[in-house]
Amino acid sequence: MINVSKIKKGIVIDHIEYGHGFQIFKQLKLDEIEDVVVILRNIPSKKMGKKDLIKIETDLDLNFDILGLMDPNATVNIVENGEIKSKIKLSLPKKVYGTLKCKNPRCITNCEEVPTIEFTLVDCKKKEYKCEYCDARTKL
Ligand code: CTP
Ligand code: ZN
Repeated sequence: MINVSKIKKGIVIDHIEYGHGFQIFKQLKLDEIEDVVVILRNIPSKKMGKKDLIKIETDLDLNFDILGLMDPNATVNIVENGEIKSKIKLSLPKKVYGTLKCKNPRCITNCEEVPTIEFTLVDCKKKEYKCEYCDARTKL
């Protein structure tokens, strides 16, 4: 297999469902940062069969809410001084601020400028969230 070196400081997003790595790359806007980013796709994995993985050598923080929403089974490894300092097991966030867009065309949030919208998880299985303004259900 292709050998990718370990990182000194940053974030390794592991156990990404295969085929989702690029979507996560885009959603986290990793194309806009100046740091080194590596996406590995279709890596053989004992647990998952195949998986994607993203390594980011950076000082930046990431929005784990977005990650939890996109791939709740991924693992976030925080690396410092070349070693894994912590492993964060993601989950579906109970509240999401700003990432989602209300699907109701008549919702005020689609007609007027509103502050960051709060979406509340209402269905874990379907990953559906409720808009705070109109109660309509929305998913990513
Ligand atoms: N990693 C890295 N740089 C480091 C340390 C780790 O890029 N300085 C990467 C490893 O290459 C691996 C991931 O972080 O892809 C997770 O590392 P590790 O916890 O050592 O692997 P596993 O034990 O397989 O992880 P898990 O138990 O979560 O499956
Ligand atoms: Zn709405």
